[in-house]
Amino acid sequence: MTESSAHHLRAGGISLVLDCEGDRLPRVLHWGPDLGELGAEDLAHLRLAAAQGPRAAGPDRPVPLALLAEQSAGWMGTPGLTGHRAGADFSTAFTVTGIRRNASTEAAVAETLTITAADRDAALELGLEVQMLVSGLVRMRAAVTNTGPGIFDLHSLDLNLPVPLEADEILDLTGWWGHERIQQRHAFTHGTHLRESRRARELDAAVVMAAGRHGFSWRSGELRAMHVGWSGNTRTYAERMNHAVGMLAGGELLLAGEIRLGASETYQGPWIYYSHGDGLDESAARVHDYLRARPQHPRTARPVQLNVWEAVYFDHDLATLKRLADIAASLGVERYVLDDGWFGSRRDDSSGLGDWVVSPDVWPDGLGPIIDHVHDLGMEFGLWFEPEMVNPDSDLARAHPEWILAARPDRWPPEARHQQVLNLTIPEAYAHVRDQMLAILRTYRIEYLKWDFNRDLIEAGTQSTGQASIHEQTLAAYRLMDELIAAQPGLEIESCSSGGGRIDLGILDRCVRIWASDVTDPLERQRIEAGTSLLLPPEMIGSHVASPISHQTGRTTTIDFRAGTAFFSHMGIEWDLTGASEDELARLGEWIAAHQEHRDLLHTGTVVHGDHPDDAFWLHGVVAKDHREAIYAFASVHSSRHTTPGQVRLPGLEPDRRYRVTQLLTDTAGRARRGSSTAWWDDGLTLTGRALGAVGLQMPNVSPEQQVVLHVTTT
Ligand code: GLA
Repeated sequence: MTESSAHHLRAGGISLVLDCEGDRLPRVLHWGPDLGELGAEDLAHLRLAAAQGPRAAGPDRPVPLALLAEQSAGWMGTPGLTGHRAGADFSTAFTVTGIRRNASTEAAVAETLTITAADRDAALELGLEVQMLVSGLVRMRAAVTNTGPGIFDLHSLDLNLPVPLEADEILDLTGWWGHERIQQRHAFTHGTHLRESRRARELDAAVVMAAGRHGFSWRSGELRAMHVGWSGNTRTYAERMNHAVGMLAGGELLLAGEIRLGASETYQGPWIYYSHGDGLDESAARVHDYLRARPQHPRTARPVQLNVWEAVYFDHDLATLKRLADIAASLGVERYVLDDGWFGSRRDDSSGLGDWVVSPDVWPDGLGPIIDHVHDLGMEFGLWFEPEMVNPDSDLARAHPEWILAARPDRWPPEARHQQVLNLTIPEAYAHVRDQMLAILRTYRIEYLKWDFNRDLIEAGTQSTGQASIHEQTLAAYRLMDELIAAQPGLEIESCSSGGGRIDLGILDRCVRIWASDVTDPLERQRIEAGTSLLLPPEMIGSHVASPISHQTGRTTTIDFRAGTAFFSHMGIEWDLTGASEDELARLGEWIAAHQEHRDLLHTGTVVHGDHPDDAFWLHGVVAKDHREAIYAFASVHSSRHTTPGQVRLPGLEPDRRYRVTQLLTDTAGRARRGSSTAWWDDGLTLTGRALGAVGLQMPNVSPEQQVVLHVTTT
């Protein structure tokens, strides 16, 4: 095997070896732990090791699975590219026309392999980019060009990486409003486990699909995982055929007729991310490290923010909003976000969406009085928009009903939250919303946008053509964000979609934060944020301290549990502080100060989770990259069958270092109940990372819906 007939990409402890011999699309000889330096003979023998002989009732000369699966190469499962040209060219047979390998100038990218291929009979060209990212994450994307004269009707363009037979269990995510990122597991058997997202939102999407050895956990068990970095419709699937070959595959989900390529037109698919790990923490850390290495990743301290939504909802009253700002500033809050209700006729959710003009009814002197007040208090100001949406009861929808995304002019999609989607693929509609937003951004000093997106895109077509438009709509939304950021340098955008409905790496190319869920109950948040951490690092996850009685669940929790939960993420408050007691405010101030003191560690360290055997308890934390410090939370999420939690292991520490373990902010309520004892939590203890990881330490007997936070420092 010559050097150019195989490519070995290596970074972050991961190898991807691609067999490029001959002119068929590249095949994966290995994706997983780093194989070290490989010579020509090693590569040739790896290829030999992977070669299958003839199999029962199969092709006489089997061709290994390529990055884009093709029937013409003997793949009997889902083909990578489907489509047709007036009923013909239903199956492709690409031959490689060029391979280029480049070191990267981007800090996050180690190497790029660019492969071009053509199917001259079908008159298609394929462009594949395969990148090894510095963190060991692999990402790939594909583009297809119609080189023929007529229309090529593209149905799907999926890429895959193979997974070994050892991977016999699949973990993916699902959920619903307020219950985002529920983890579910299935056996990985023969057949296809397909998760489609057909509403351009991710409340119930796979988001992350992992395949590994049965029982793989946070800390152990080899697994491979993938994510489609796209905010429109997606396909994510695990497929295994009866000849023992399996894969994780996916791409954009295209609706019928959505991509009809004319002569020389190209469809560009989204980046698909692939991670490998010994345990979910390691796989997630590769994604976090990649995100943190990108130039647009937020590098300034994440400002503690107050969002007024749960404090006032649509009831905008300047005096109350100023009082909230005063209290927030006195607690150390650094950013104030005015949520829904400031514009048009938007006094509730039934009207006004789409009219991005300050309401003279509620803001007779404009937003200046609140914005100036917030700035005078030393805080940044943020403002809520939902730019892609419109209430039918709005000036905009009345003036331009043809700007609503709909399959037909006379059949709009069923309303959801009394709203429809504005068709941003219509240049005039796009320009209208952009200019209204820019007018606000140029009139006022606004540092931050909360960008909401509160309904599913269903039957989302362009009325004049009847063509499905989710692909183009998604690109237009990206373009709008990019334009606003370019026009207002330094502007930060938060991605919200009925809570955590839009958290993919496509939107996060331009957003610095996601609102993980509308549910601010800390008990629910413990689980939601754990699932979200499979993709996102804590500094991108918005987490707010809400009122003692949760507005969503009715559950009552202590200030320590609420604040100690938000403490780990991009911390904020969403609570009518004018009704809070002096004690609650004082304690909240202490948590904010603690967050500000430790956020550098929390927002740059490695996220870890415990595999504690009693599921009544939940341990997670962040360990500094240099292993000199860590912070853990140990929470009780429901009643245990044991009278004590037992000894709990602290993961991620350096074995030979000695660490001092203390409580970060003593859980005063819990302490009174537990009484004093000889246990370590009164005065702390000192042990090696090895002992803390292998033996663990007895935890205070926290009751359900309480937690202790541990601070671990090098002695
Ligand atoms: C959505 C968001 C909330 C809030 C409301 C405002 O539900 O998820 O955080 O902004 O919209 O209408």
